[in-house]
Amino acid sequence: MSSPDPSNHWRTIALRWAEIGAPLRPVPEDVKLVADEALAWTKNNGRAPRVLILGVTPELCRLDWPKGTSVCAVDQSPDMIRAVWPGDPAQVTTSNWLDVGSVHASGSFDIVVCDGGLHLLPYPDGQSQLSQVIAKLLTPKGLAIFRLFALPKVFESIAQVLAALANGKITDMNRLKLRMGMALQKDSTTGACLGDVWNCIAAVEPDLAALARRLGWRREHAEALVSYRDSSNRYYFSTPQAAIECLESSGQLRFVRTHLPSYPNPEQFPTIVWERL
Ligand SMILES: C[S@@+](CC[C@H](N)C(=O)[O-])C[C@H]1O[C@@H](n2cnc3c(N)ncnc32)[C@H](O)[C@@H]1O
Repeated sequence: MSSPDPSNHWRTIALRWAEIGAPLRPVPEDVKLVADEALAWTKNNGRAPRVLILGVTPELCRLDWPKGTSVCAVDQSPDMIRAVWPGDPAQVTTSNWLDVGSVHASGSFDIVVCDGGLHLLPYPDGQSQLSQVIAKLLTPKGLAIFRLFALPKVFESIAQVLAALANGKITDMNRLKLRMGMALQKDSTTGACLGDVWNCIAAVEPDLAALARRLGWRREHAEALVSYRDSSNRYYFSTPQAAIECLESSGQLRFVRTHLPSYPNPEQFPTIVWERL
């Protein structure tokens, strides 16, 4: 296997998208929460919403939006847009989320939604800046809806994650990536380097095909970790409360509710809703 270019993190993920699964990707109950929020918004406001998706999450594109909903998306990776977005490419703007305020006019959306993306921005500055961008894009009473990948209540060490892996207690690569990334992170501000996630796992499991055989995973599934190899990208995991505070930091978004899923470790995958004042 050759090393991917560190600057092409999302390109290598795009090539292996079919191997990424829950909880990194939303399951039907996560998507239904968003559909229910959109339906309630429609009933309360007497019209269908204008929706902006941060990222190109196909499950959100294909969601059963209320009749008449318009859907746009914004993603900075042309490779992800090409490989993953199942809708019309004209719906997607290629841009950094933090710059999208210069593409769409103020108040041009009623719902901004993002699945597992907040930790991709530096904490707290990038995440707080996103609050300002979203507050500008949303109309008053508009909703920001984010599913988070949040830190566990009890810190888990690298050794604990590796022990769980050795004992066959980690069900898939999606959970292994998250648990190792969170164990590696000293604090939310410095975050976790994805190349370090690869290094920690490769130090004990250098042969991903052998790991897959031992744990009964498909080889291609285990090899989804390759997108982290040599990657200098960082993820910035935080707590739900810290995420709430970041998105409230513009002073224009107010936390309204949290939905927890029914799958394992629900408090780590909350869908949080804020309202534009
Ligand atoms: C919404 S996130 C969700 C990914 C998935 N949950 C996971 O962790 O593997 C993924 C998308 O966000 C895009 N993305 C990441 N950071 C971005 C940024 N600052 N601006 C625009 N798009 C960004 C990536 O290109 C990718 O298509």
